[in-house]
Amino acid sequence: MRILVIGSGGREHALVWKLLQSPRTEVVFVAPGNGGTAQEKKAVNVPVAADDLDGLVSLARKEHIDLVVPGPELPLTLGITDRMTAAGIACFGPDAYGAQLEGSKAFAKEIMQQAHVPTARCAVFHDAAACAAHIHSTGAPVVVKADGLAAGKGVIIAQTVDEALNAVNDIMTSRAFGAAGDAVVVEECLVGEEVSLLCLCDGTRAIPLPSAQDHKRVFDGDAGPNTGGMGAYSPAPILPDDRLQAMADITVRPVLAALAKAGHPFVGVLYAGLMLTADGPKVLEYNVRFGDPECQPLLMRLEGDLPSIMLDAVHGTLNPASLHYNSQTALGVVITAEGYPGTYPKGLPIEGIDMADAMPGVKVFHSGTALQNGRLVSSGGRVLCATALGEGLAAAQKAAYAAVTKVHMPQSFYRRDIGAKGIRRLSTD
Ligand code: AMP
Ligand code: GLY
Repeated sequence: MRILVIGSGGREHALVWKLLQSPRTEVVFVAPGNGGTAQEKKAVNVPVAADDLDGLVSLARKEHIDLVVPGPELPLTLGITDRMTAAGIACFGPDAYGAQLEGSKAFAKEIMQQAHVPTARCAVFHDAAACAAHIHSTGAPVVVKADGLAAGKGVIIAQTVDEALNAVNDIMTSRAFGAAGDAVVVEECLVGEEVSLLCLCDGTRAIPLPSAQDHKRVFDGDAGPNTGGMGAYSPAPILPDDRLQAMADITVRPVLAALAKAGHPFVGVLYAGLMLTADGPKVLEYNVRFGDPECQPLLMRLEGDLPSIMLDAVHGTLNPASLHYNSQTALGVVITAEGYPGTYPKGLPIEGIDMADAMPGVKVFHSGTALQNGRLVSSGGRVLCATALGEGLAAAQKAAYAAVTKVHMPQSFYRRDIGAKGIRRLSTD
């Protein structure tokens, strides 16, 4: 098979790495890829941007691609699946209609209400004054969200009414996130522990992947601003394997049925970000793709043939028996450039990845790297994700941090407590 992966992050490096393990894979093109995908044998970076739909379709045609795998949400919300499907090329992702589950928080809320999926109570506003009046009447804490895509920065958990009003002002009046701020969702602040449930979907079936837990805040102990994700592990003890099906019944399958009924059967990964509250699970958000960094530990555990699984999903013939997982735990620690998620330096030289990769059960995925005159340098805020397998969470954590110490980059930063919450839970169970 000739495969095209779209994107340039750690998730895409993990997808390329896993797809290349299949005997069916002849070559994987990556548009645009990064320094890590450039170094994978049988992978070829092509300088086409992830949102250049015309460029991507021409590339897929020219290279006789059999399967397209979009990594990030943007090409999906722009309609890459619709375009590839029209060109007769299999594409593992939802159409633009289904991608609104992530592209519009108001759309997601509406479908959740229709499908009776538990979620935070909310109100949607297109007008700043009406939104402010609502916030005065509800009080704080309250959560303010830009409706559209805002690179993970459009959600503000306001502890005071003033903070909430400032957020509305930033989003709707100052247009901090551009058109993503045409509408604002204001919702009740939920309390609980977060966990990610990702399901592989073929239009009618949803097969849960093992659970994973992300670490969204930048600093240890879940302090500081939200980021794209500072580390992840799988499985998460808070959502054991024997509860995955019941959780998918509550949080994913009703939405899948609603989309199929609307004439847009959902293909790809439907990711439910869950808050496990005292009143049961509630959906915080949907993503229409693998999470980054959740994808890295999840794919390290996957033992099935990924290209076949993805093609089956596109053809509506997913078979749960084709999915197997390593019983070990996988844990990934994200190494960032200091300053992320604010401003950070780029072009930092990176060394030691070979040493880390040589350790048993370790793979260092690249998130924001580039090759400059043959030298590996940083090119983004999240730079690497050192991922390791271990017998249980504590062993996986130890192995991943041992790998981190082999990697050298000036002005680097990483959390020291990835997995700590899960280890505490295991010790109190
Ligand atoms: P979202 O993009 O909607 O997942 O929001 C990003 C993060 O904000 C989530 O992972 C949660 O940590 C937090 N969050 C979102 N909605 C709520 C809510 N209603 N209550 C509490 N925290 C929330
Ligand atoms: N790690 C969270 C996300 O990919 O949205």
